Amino acid sequence: MYEQQLGLKPPMGWNSWNTFTWDINEQLIREAADTIVAGGYKDAGYEYIVIDDCWSLKDRDDDGKLVADPIKFPNGMKALADYIHSKGLKFGMYSCVGTHTCAGYPGSFEHEFQDAELLAEWGVDFLKYDYCFKPRHISGELLYKRMSLALKNCGRDILFSACNWGEDNVYQWIRESGAHMYRSTGDIQDSWDSIKSLTLSQLDKASFTGSYCHNDMDMLVVGMYGGSNSDFIGSQIGGCNDVEYKTHFSLWSMMGSPLMIGSDIRKANQPTRDILMNRDLIAINQDVEGRGAYRIKPEPQWFHADDVFMLVKVLTDGDVAIGFFNLSDGQREMSLQFWDIGLPYASGKSLSLYDCWEHKEIGVFRERYAPVVPAHDCLIVRAKLV
Ligand code: GAL
Repeated sequence: MYEQQLGLKPPMGWNSWNTFTWDINEQLIREAADTIVAGGYKDAGYEYIVIDDCWSLKDRDDDGKLVADPIKFPNGMKALADYIHSKGLKFGMYSCVGTHTCAGYPGSFEHEFQDAELLAEWGVDFLKYDYCFKPRHISGELLYKRMSLALKNCGRDILFSACNWGEDNVYQWIRESGAHMYRSTGDIQDSWDSIKSLTLSQLDKASFTGSYCHNDMDMLVVGMYGGSNSDFIGSQIGGCNDVEYKTHFSLWSMMGSPLMIGSDIRKANQPTRDILMNRDLIAINQDVEGRGAYRIKPEPQWFHADDVFMLVKVLTDGDVAIGFFNLSDGQREMSLQFWDIGLPYASGKSLSLYDCWEHKEIGVFRERYAPVVPAHDCLIVRAKLV
């Protein structure tokens, strides 16, 4: 009955929060599921449709059960789960370790086992578990262990997505708790500054991600262009351009983050679709060994600030994914000495480089490769030893 591979690779899907926040309903969720299939996203690997906060009534019923808001979800969660499953997709929902969710709906504190059973009854496959209104006398670590135990024993495979925003040194204890992914950062905003600062905060955490417990750098803002009903996330911020969204997607892919789309995919334009469904990047993200990406500074190292770096991810088949990231505001030449990824000139070997955005071979290089990367842009190559 249990799926041995639950959480093996970084989960992929769509989440309602970034764009819709509180303004969610059954019709929207069904349309998101329809688009995931009809738009080709499912074929590219996206499978979870996740309803975030604001789905329930403000009070539990007389038996202490959570109640789906009958105005937003008139047919209830079981029917919605059935619909999502009929499309070959999986259904995700949201709760919180505390007495309330961040938006003030009931949380699962002291209801963990009851809630896990209810989610299983409804046919839920994924639970995002937030950190607001946590009683101060109990550690977050213990509360994540509780819900993990409840989910693992509720009779259904439910992927456990912890969301404590990187607080309380979460990376030191979350894997042992049983969670399959964990938020390591505060909330993303639809801005270049947010993408950049979340990235820089996680560059030294490469050893705290991997199979069955992935470092979740938050949902993607690709394709939002400022279109959110939350001022905090986007509508007052204005969004990013396509180059910045491309770099954002490349970073999340290379760093092994789950890929949860946060834009209104029903309205996605072609550049957004091309970014979100870049198969070469998704293959790197989903590589089965699930290794973190290590950082190298370009030569000469004294010349470059911390926002210009290469990320290197060792892949299962012997290839190496290399991302040249220029998060600075000016164009940069980024010189990679192959010595720094373990390939000395004396080996007699070269690297054959394939461009994962242009989807074509670049050529064969020995000893070094030094592309010029425009501001806020990146180059992602898959390197094969020849
Ligand atoms: C935040 C969380 C967001 C979203 C929101 C809902 O704490 O980081 O991703 O879930 O709560 O209220």
